Formats: sequence, C-alpha cells, structure tokens
Amino acid sequence: MTANTLTIRRPDDWHVHLRDGDILKGVVPYTARQFARAIVMPNLSPPVIRAADGAAYRDRIMAALPAGMDFTPLMTAYLTNGTDADDLAAGFTDGIFTAAKLYPAHATTNSAHGVTNIANIYGVLERMQAIDMPLLIHGEVTDHDVDIFDREAVFIERTLNKVVRDFPELRIVFEHITTAEAVDFVVASGPNIGATITPQHLHINRNAMFAGGIRPHAYCLPVAKREKHRLALRKAAVSGNPKFFLGTDSAPHAVSAKESACGCAGIFNAPFAIESYALVFEEEGALDKLEGFASEFGPRFYRLPLNEDQITLTKAPVEVPLSVDANGTPVSPFHAGETIGWKFSAG
Ligand code: DOR
Ligand code: ZN
Repeated sequence: MTANTLTIRRPDDWHVHLRDGDILKGVVPYTARQFARAIVMPNLSPPVIRAADGAAYRDRIMAALPAGMDFTPLMTAYLTNGTDADDLAAGFTDGIFTAAKLYPAHATTNSAHGVTNIANIYGVLERMQAIDMPLLIHGEVTDHDVDIFDREAVFIERTLNKVVRDFPELRIVFEHITTAEAVDFVVASGPNIGATITPQHLHINRNAMFAGGIRPHAYCLPVAKREKHRLALRKAAVSGNPKFFLGTDSAPHAVSAKESACGCAGIFNAPFAIESYALVFEEEGALDKLEGFASEFGPRFYRLPLNEDQITLTKAPVEVPLSVDANGTPVSPFHAGETIGWKFSAG
C-alpha cells in the first residue's frame, strides 16, 4: 500500500441480486468485474425454491456472463412454509446451494412466498443445522403495527433470539444489518453468527431519503436508519471483527420502477461497490482493515478458500454517471452524480 494505491486480495460479494432475463445479462458484468464470487439471492418471480431451480438459475447466470470473465455465482434457496428438507439438503450436498435464505413473508421485493411463521420451518432448520448449511436472514418483522424503522430491532427480540437459542450450532448470516442493536447482537453471539453490511448503510442515514424532496434512489429495505446506527455500522465494518463482512445487497430496478408513485426498494451499487467501501474505510482511517472485511472474513465464515488474485484501488477522481445501461434498462447507480475518490482496476 502506498499513499495512492491499495492492492488487496480480490473481494467477494456475500449478498447480491442478479435478477433474471434481459436485466441479468445487463447487471452480471458489473458484479463479475470486481468480485470473484457472489452469494446470489433467490427472490426471483417465481422464486428459486428447489435444487433444480437453483441449478437452472446458475446456468442462466453463467450463460449471461461475458466470455473471459472469471466469476462464480454461489446459489441460495428461498425458504417457504413448504420447503422440502430432503430436496434442500440434497441441493446443498450436491454443491448446487451454498445457503438458504429466510424472507419473512412480505418483508421485501418478491417475498410473498416467504415464511409466515418461523415455526413452520423448524424441521428445515433442524436439518440445516445437522448438515451445516448456512441460513441467511432478512431480519425484519412484517407486522404493520411495528414502525418500519423498528422492524429490525423487533425481529431480533421476537425471532432471532429464539432461532439462535433453539439452533445453537446453526451458522447464520444476519444480512444487510442497519442498526446498532444488530451490531450488538452479532458481537455478543457465538462465532457461528455473522453479518453482512452494505455500502449504502455505511454512507447514508434516513435523511437521505428526504433531502430536499423525496429521493427514491436512497430507498432500500431494510430502510436506512438514524445517524447513530450508521455510525455503529461503520465502527463494526472497520473494527477487524471477522463476524462482519462485505455484502452489497446490490438490487437493480429500472429507473422508471424507482421513480414512481410506489417506488421499488433497492439500491444498485454494483458498478462502484468496492470504491464505495474504500471511501468509508479511508474516512475512518482504516484502509488496512478493508482487505479483511472485503476478501477474507466472508470466505472464512463460509469455509471457502480465499481468492488468490488481486485488485488495485487507486486514488483518483471518478465521476459516477446518473444512469448506467443494463442491457437496455437504464438503472441509477449508488453515488449517481457524485465524484468518488477511488478508481478500481483488476490485478
Ligand atoms: O431493498 C431491497 N431490495 N431489499 C431487499 O431485501 C430486496 C431487494 C430487491 O430484491 O429489490
Ligand atoms: Zn437483498
């Protein structure tokens, strides 16, 4: 590392939405350019439920990947009230699924088939614990009487505490955490509990959604919280604690679907993801901690080998466009219109 360049082991993205069809072809190169592997979310319509769905989706991703790009998608199963534990376990042992994702029903985009009551999947969780298959959790309650800004903290109290108590050996990733309560919970839990942190939750607090007017491109779920939570997340990310690792939650939606009377949740951060994290680590005076967070702690949690190749980040002004093309669909990237101080290059 010199004052102006930072070379680190190539990172992985432990939480991404690559979508399907035309837009898949448009977005996959942005992720594959920076990341060697990515945990691919299964919330398609219809969702990726059975092992055969996971294998077919993986084939579509590989077919959408431009020739010569080195990228491995790691597939996940979408848990439902009716998940077939035998099929799920076979998908894991056959190397199709790396993990399974719990969406509480109606918590977010394409989660209508999610789990309505955690008790409905206790048999599946038992099996996952037995075969050491990681559980990835969208940790928000969906009750309409719970304020949207409290839904993550209430999920810890009502659901996560219980799951961790009832399945003490289960490996769990608390995805895209947004609160000081989630940070505290993960720090206090055993080594089998980790968490991913997105770039947007390190950069913005909830004011970003209302800066001079309503800002749909700053809206994602879980929604950004108060400043004190952003500061707690930044502290966790740069702490060097291996429980916290990179997961962008890059979630592309067409500009027209975001700029609407009922705009979709999701921030497309893949085009400048590692630069965005580098900015945070630089601001925190912790660039020496970026490699652990981006490239080492995730593979260790998932028990996968570390990547051997490297990337370089150089200090240089980079202008982020207002919109990028995703195979015919205009999508607004995170940091649109800003100049960010890091430039990515492979090798
Ligand atoms: O903001 C989000 N967008 N949060 C999610 O949990 C899902 C995602 C999506 O698929 O668009
Ligand atoms: Zn997500």
